Amino acid sequence: MRILVIGSGGREHALAWKLAQSPRVQTVDVAPGNGGTANHPNMRNVPLTDIDQLIDYARTEKIAYTIVGPEAPLAAGIVDAFRAAGLKIFGPTQAAAQLESSKDYAKAFMVRHNIPTAAYQTFTDPALAKAYILEQGAPIVVKADGLAAGKGVIVAETTDQALDAIDQMLGDGSLGAAAARVVIEECLIGEEASFIVLCDGNSVLALATSQDHKRLLDQDQGPNTGGMGAYSPAPVVTPALHNRIMREVIDPTIAGMNQDGITFTGFLYAGLMIGDGPDATRTIKVLEYNCRMGDPETQPIVMRIKSDLADVFELAVEGKLDQANIDWDRRTALGVVMAAHNYPGTPRTGDAITRLATDTEDCVVFHAGTTLQDQVLKTAGGRVLCVTVLADSVRRAQVAAYNAISQTHFDGQQYRRDIGWRAIP
Ligand code: AMP
Ligand code: GLY
Repeated sequence: MRILVIGSGGREHALAWKLAQSPRVQTVDVAPGNGGTANHPNMRNVPLTDIDQLIDYARTEKIAYTIVGPEAPLAAGIVDAFRAAGLKIFGPTQAAAQLESSKDYAKAFMVRHNIPTAAYQTFTDPALAKAYILEQGAPIVVKADGLAAGKGVIVAETTDQALDAIDQMLGDGSLGAAAARVVIEECLIGEEASFIVLCDGNSVLALATSQDHKRLLDQDQGPNTGGMGAYSPAPVVTPALHNRIMREVIDPTIAGMNQDGITFTGFLYAGLMIGDGPDATRTIKVLEYNCRMGDPETQPIVMRIKSDLADVFELAVEGKLDQANIDWDRRTALGVVMAAHNYPGTPRTGDAITRLATDTEDCVVFHAGTTLQDQVLKTAGGRVLCVTVLADSVRRAQVAAYNAISQTHFDGQQYRRDIGWRAIP
């Protein structure tokens, strides 16, 4: 069978890489794909992003089912459109994707359904927003309501920073319409984890846990990015916490959506802040929902999947997730993102990737912002590569990942040196 993966990032390369290993899969079509998917013998880049054209393509090319990587097509209603055309697709409807596409919607949803999250208020008026900040004091978090590729959140240490963020967002800053409304919320402390499940409308299948590194620089300094590296599993999520997260966050989210008249299908990603203390009592709060897999979390998660992912997704698309099961490699997978010069601002593109670590069974370089031009790989986006390895411990995985990075080069490259630090004693 042929499977269509929508997107062009490291997440999509990783999904396509795993799907292409299935003996049942001839080709994974990736739309629009990147330099990595262009180079794989069983992948084909499809230069389309328009939903109607993708529907025509899936139909004429007899695609068995489609998997959606990024949030933008979900928010634009790609799942509704494919289903209306009688095509199989895995993802949330446009209505369900509001959990990610509007922070205000997600916050109101969580309050309505008693799902634990930071206290908040939503504003469109800058004067009222500023008055609220001054009343609450710092630290405080300012978030653009709409989609902002991981860059719409300011964790302000001082009220001045928070007031500046209001001027940026509710003024005419670079985020545009995404920041016409802002959510201002309580600053939570603790350790973050990414908890991702598959939902078919009836059943839920949890994926392995992971932890992202959102800040640009070592020791979690610098601006928020789309994610600079991740590893799986996240030891902070013990089996006891896993059960609590299912009971206190995932199940009530699916049930709450149902109560609101929305059947949730697709990936549900809860970004969590886990407070200190013993597992039975530590606080678990939802920082955000995403309605897709994480990037770069997908890269290490997928490296640990031992089962046939094409079978799992097929069952998910058909509403038979209760029959699906995933065997996990017990080792740790760890991925380090190599980003372009000036990321997360406007990244420089067009730098040649002059050296690239060779893929092995335990080390894969997933591509994101790359393009293949006349057989030369060049940078084409902010996050360029994600060097992902499997090893017996986080420490060993870290060493192996940075060893592979030392064999990889493009001008302007920047990457964190400490991915995985929280899990290294
Ligand atoms: P989000 O896009 O909502 O996940 O936010 C991006 C990052 O900002 C998160 O991964 C956290 O590191 C940080 N963040 C978001 N909300 C809060 C909060 N209420 N308290 C502390 N940090 C936060
Ligand atoms: N890595 C965070 C995200 O995908 O939203």
